Amino acid sequence: MVNGMDAVIKVERLEKTVNLADGGRLTILQDISFSVAPAETVAIVGASGSGKSTLLGLLAGLDVPTSGQVSVQGKDLSILSEDARAQVRGAYIGFVFQSFQLLPALTALENVMMPLELAGREQARDIARQCLVRVGLEQRLSHYPKHLSGGEQQRVALARAFATSPSLLLADEPTGNLDSDTGHQIIELMFELNRETRTTMILVTHDESLAARCGRSIRLRAGHLDT
Ligand SMILES: Nc1ncnc2c1ncn2[C@@H]1O[C@H](COP(=O)(O)OP(=O)(O)O)[C@@H](O)[C@H]1O
Ligand SMILES: [Mg+2]
Repeated sequence: MVNGMDAVIKVERLEKTVNLADGGRLTILQDISFSVAPAETVAIVGASGSGKSTLLGLLAGLDVPTSGQVSVQGKDLSILSEDARAQVRGAYIGFVFQSFQLLPALTALENVMMPLELAGREQARDIARQCLVRVGLEQRLSHYPKHLSGGEQQRVALARAFATSPSLLLADEPTGNLDSDTGHQIIELMFELNRETRTTMILVTHDESLAARCGRSIRLRAGHLDT
């Protein structure tokens, strides 16, 4: 167990309950506690519907828990406003989605520049270009997402996620929309970038071989930690 003080992210007694259209309530996550240390790689695994994406959204501060706490680099997200959470995200967190989530009106280069500019970084263009070169897309800088293959879009998304040198990289089924060869290439690249930057990485997957490459797994079963 990691000392909470040294943790990149610390989760305490997290619960997420939502109101349903029929007036009922659904508890999606209950009594989730864990910490992740710097440079660890952690897989969150569990059946479809077990609450993995909900948990990752809470870790990123994209969503708020019903009760409990998430702290990122010692900052308790539960006491922050939405704007302040967005600042923490910009400063410390990179996110990779299953469906890439590139901005369609921006080129590959502009998509990668976006988080750098939001963080007020100088030379955003140069850094973004270097990141795209690193993921093998130097020939695709001015392409729009719709003119890129799925694998290329996910490479752009990886470049965007790592561009700000985040202390925490969160990925939700990053290979879920890719064929298996392309998926393997993306995973290799992700672990290479992770080693180069010593980023802490938490990734949601139901691919056991991918989970096995991580330092440890956190298993969810129907919204509970399965230990
Ligand atoms: N906003 C919501 N309202 C109602 N049900 C939700 C909501 N978000 C998620 N769920 C339900 O919570 C469960 C967990 O969802 P999710 O976190 O997406 O699981 P996973 O990513 O493990 O497949 C699912 O049964 C899903 O239908
Ligand atoms: Mg999911």
